[in-house]
Amino acid sequence: MKKVLHISTECYPAAKAGGMGDVVGALPIYLKDQDIKASVIIPKYKTNWIRSQIFETLQFGTFQMGDQTIKYGIQKLLKKKLPFHLYVVDIPGLFDRESIYLAEDGHGYKDEAERFIGFQRAVLSWLCHDSPTFDILHCHDHMTGLIPFFVKHCAAYSPLKKKPVCFTIHNGQYRGVFPWSQRKLLPGFDERFNGLLDWDGQINSLATAIKSAWRVNTVSPNYMQELMNQPDTLRQLYQSESKKCSGIINGIDNDLWDPSTDSYLETHLDGDNWKEFKSESKSKLCREFGLSSSKALIGYIGRMAPQKGADILTSATIDTKKQELEYNLFVLGSGDKDIEHSMKVLEDQYGDEVRVIIAYDEKLARRIYAASDFLAMPSRFEPCGLNQMYAMRYGSIPIVSHVGGLVDTVPDIKDDGNGIVFDVDDPNGCADAFYRAMNLYSDQKKFKKLRDKVTEEDFSWDKSAKKYKKLYKAVLKETK
Ligand code: GLC
Repeated sequence: MKKVLHISTECYPAAKAGGMGDVVGALPIYLKDQDIKASVIIPKYKTNWIRSQIFETLQFGTFQMGDQTIKYGIQKLLKKKLPFHLYVVDIPGLFDRESIYLAEDGHGYKDEAERFIGFQRAVLSWLCHDSPTFDILHCHDHMTGLIPFFVKHCAAYSPLKKKPVCFTIHNGQYRGVFPWSQRKLLPGFDERFNGLLDWDGQINSLATAIKSAWRVNTVSPNYMQELMNQPDTLRQLYQSESKKCSGIINGIDNDLWDPSTDSYLETHLDGDNWKEFKSESKSKLCREFGLSSSKALIGYIGRMAPQKGADILTSATIDTKKQELEYNLFVLGSGDKDIEHSMKVLEDQYGDEVRVIIAYDEKLARRIYAASDFLAMPSRFEPCGLNQMYAMRYGSIPIVSHVGGLVDTVPDIKDDGNGIVFDVDDPNGCADAFYRAMNLYSDQKKFKKLRDKVTEEDFSWDKSAKKYKKLYKAVLKETK
């Protein structure tokens, strides 16, 4: 059985800030069915989950990072709490904080470079000294993007020189860029390969990974196409590395996301009785939050960030409400303070029909999937998107922009698809999509037929886990 170590800054349920956490927490489970033994290593944060577990220390070590001597501990989760091995890197001072990335002011921690580089260096030090053996290292996003370079070009990690490293891009917008003046944080490396770390005169972790990893994949095929074809400073790099690039769509964990057993829900799906499940879930939620359950309910769950198009949602709501289009909107999310504020203003203005909860709340999120008739995702870009798949699994029809992984998972109903799709560059796109949605809703027979259809879609991990297996096989072949 081949062994893969996923190196990531998130893994559900230990630490999750977004979809990457879900993916890193699910893929290892499904790789098992493909005869691949996957383990995960993450930083040891002070999340509630991590605090409530018992870990066994496997190794203590130190390394010099700039002027600091970093002391790290590698620990392993005791007891079979997860179906895969979970290791954590304990670096007091860098990771023992409740939040994964964000300081109290809502911005990223100021010592981001120290944290991510410290994590990567501790993992590699462990892998060079008495760790279990792994056949492949699998890194996720820029926070682990220097590893493909470090293993090849740092003397300190020479035992790993030939180790295949795969790299998955969950979000190509974040790049882990820092000035060359920070190079003191890096381990000593072969100077001839300086250029691999550099992009536009700065150290760029994402670019380094694209240049140095054995394989690079995005979390949907269409997103990789966008990265290669849309104007961006990294476009040329994706093009020149295209031979090792591919896109593998994420799956969802059907056991964890099951409307008939979901422990977050009070009302469950009984057999095929979608009608009762949806209407009960909706009336409970609406009653609790002071909305009328006789209107169609559109949900929005997501970070309040320009990427997710929360502002597009706000204008579409204002436009359609001015025209007195009847529906309720339920928004759940947090993030950018300005966007949060404009959402609250929207709620003040249309209080009878708009509910806005500024929070990250897994339970409420699941209740919204179960209760809503539609789920809006007006993303400006979306590497994969998981919410549209969760929505369909819970009987909610996606209203999505035509970008990234949404293109791969939500064809429009005009093309016999499973959702309502609009062009994000069209200023009226989202509002028009709301009109189309309400039109559909007014024909209950047609609406329910579509709902039945979306609940039957299969977004399970099996197909994609097979694709990762193929990727691993291909890199292993190159080591021979
Ligand atoms: C990031 C992307 C999202 C993707 C997720 C998991 O959060 O923004 O589109 O679904 O990673 O890969």
